[in-house]
Amino acid sequence: MSISYLPGKEPHPKETRRIYKNIFREGWDTSINCYLADGGYSELRKALSMEPKAVTDEVKKSGLRGRGGAGFPTGVKWTFIPPNNTKPVYLICNCDESEPGTYKDRYIVHQDPHQLIEGMIISCFAVGAHLGYIYMREEFPIAAEIMEKALQEARANNFLGKNILGSGFDLDIHVHRGAGAYICGEETSLINSLEGVRPYPRIKPPFFPAAIGLYGCPTIVNNVESLCQVKHVIQMGGEEFSKVGAQRSPGTRIIGVSGDVKRPGLYEIASGSITFGELLFDLCGGPKEGHEFKAVIPGGSSSKVMRTDVKYSVKNPDGTNGSISFFDIPLDLDSIAQHGSMAGSGAVIVMDDTRSMPWALNNLNHFYAHESCGQCTPCREGCPWMLKLTTRMLEGKASPKDVDLLLQVANQIEGKTVCAFGEAAAWPTQAMVLKFKDEFLALTDSFNDKLPHSTEAKEQRRYFTR
Ligand SMILES: Cc1cc2nc3c(=O)[nH]c(=O)nc-3n(C[C@H](O)[C@H](O)[C@H](O)COP(=O)(O)O)c2cc1C
Ligand code: SF4
Repeated sequence: MSISYLPGKEPHPKETRRIYKNIFREGWDTSINCYLADGGYSELRKALSMEPKAVTDEVKKSGLRGRGGAGFPTGVKWTFIPPNNTKPVYLICNCDESEPGTYKDRYIVHQDPHQLIEGMIISCFAVGAHLGYIYMREEFPIAAEIMEKALQEARANNFLGKNILGSGFDLDIHVHRGAGAYICGEETSLINSLEGVRPYPRIKPPFFPAAIGLYGCPTIVNNVESLCQVKHVIQMGGEEFSKVGAQRSPGTRIIGVSGDVKRPGLYEIASGSITFGELLFDLCGGPKEGHEFKAVIPGGSSSKVMRTDVKYSVKNPDGTNGSISFFDIPLDLDSIAQHGSMAGSGAVIVMDDTRSMPWALNNLNHFYAHESCGQCTPCREGCPWMLKLTTRMLEGKASPKDVDLLLQVANQIEGKTVCAFGEAAAWPTQAMVLKFKDEFLALTDSFNDKLPHSTEAKEQRRYFTR
């Protein structure tokens, strides 16, 4: 079936649109009738004719890995529910989407709510959950309304409620609106928020939500895109799904590009099927006129920045060492991890030669200092300290020692906190300072001492503090 898209929203030939098939589609709306006319809810019928364990097995076989950031295998996570469990099981869809640069899930909940609901019902059936929640970011009030309406439609059609489609399976799903905090995207903090208590992240290990989660019961938390993928696993079968894209992180992936490219936007690709070069030059149209790419943050603000002008080492097929350019790195979880960063939430932030790294880091430090929940000391104290240091640098009041101090503070946060926010805040600083140290040093006293009144110094300062 040929699908027409709104002008300017057509897929690039290198895209494989599956989750986004109906996003920006001409004539598409959020009603259940539109979804049903497109074959919607047929995967639910298929799943309900299977045993719940068989559904989980298909998801395991598919190799699907979570799209929320950590890339944990979805089917494997589901099997962590204790086998002898007698308590209720809950499934929560994480629609907090607050990681800077990330904006893929919001298009699903605004434009294709039934795809998410279908994916959730199948997932609830597989894990034995009779109650599901969509934890919706506070800043998505319209999406909350759209989802509520879609849930009503699903109930009216017996896709939710008692004895769904005569299968004997009961389920309801509710929208729960967050209060507007980045930390509420962290799954244990999200669970606390849902329970109505202060959203401090819980310590894990030893207990993960799949064993002890909401109200002390086994709880599966999955990202919006991950849950939508489940529908496609059932449609294709786990084995076929596993053949799409990169072997170790199969399926399609939505990449949200922002920053200094001609065509920023959302692109759905078969994981690993294209390189950064193809993404940035072919899909995104290359750098802005007269400029060059300088750096890329490949997986949301928490991932480590990558320089575009250096070589990255690789093992050749014959076992010898080789090197490739940044633009030749394939866009999949393992390739990006192998080169020192992570694919995270699929948010690619592009910076060209007009960008100052100290300025960019200061901007990120503002965010992390503001969003730290304050539960543990290294993060609560360290994030504002990093902000203070980068601000001091931009104001021209820092000494070269401050650059090392900045790195030390980041090192004292990493690995010493209750939740991964610590790493999320430390990694940008570590990577920026190590990879662009000259820019940080250029803002310090020695630079000013050397060239206190020269035009060159003033020019440099203007550049670095822009
Ligand atoms: C500070 C922080 C913020 C997070 N924010 C989100 C978020 O907005 N959406 C999301 O899906 N996962 C987020 N995560 C990851 C979740 O904790 C969890 O791993 C994820 O929802 C699991 O879903 P997945 O397995 O389908 O990827 C965040 C993690 C951290 C540490
Ligand atoms: S690392 Fe930061 S956000 Fe996470 S629990 Fe500690 S203080 Fe809170």
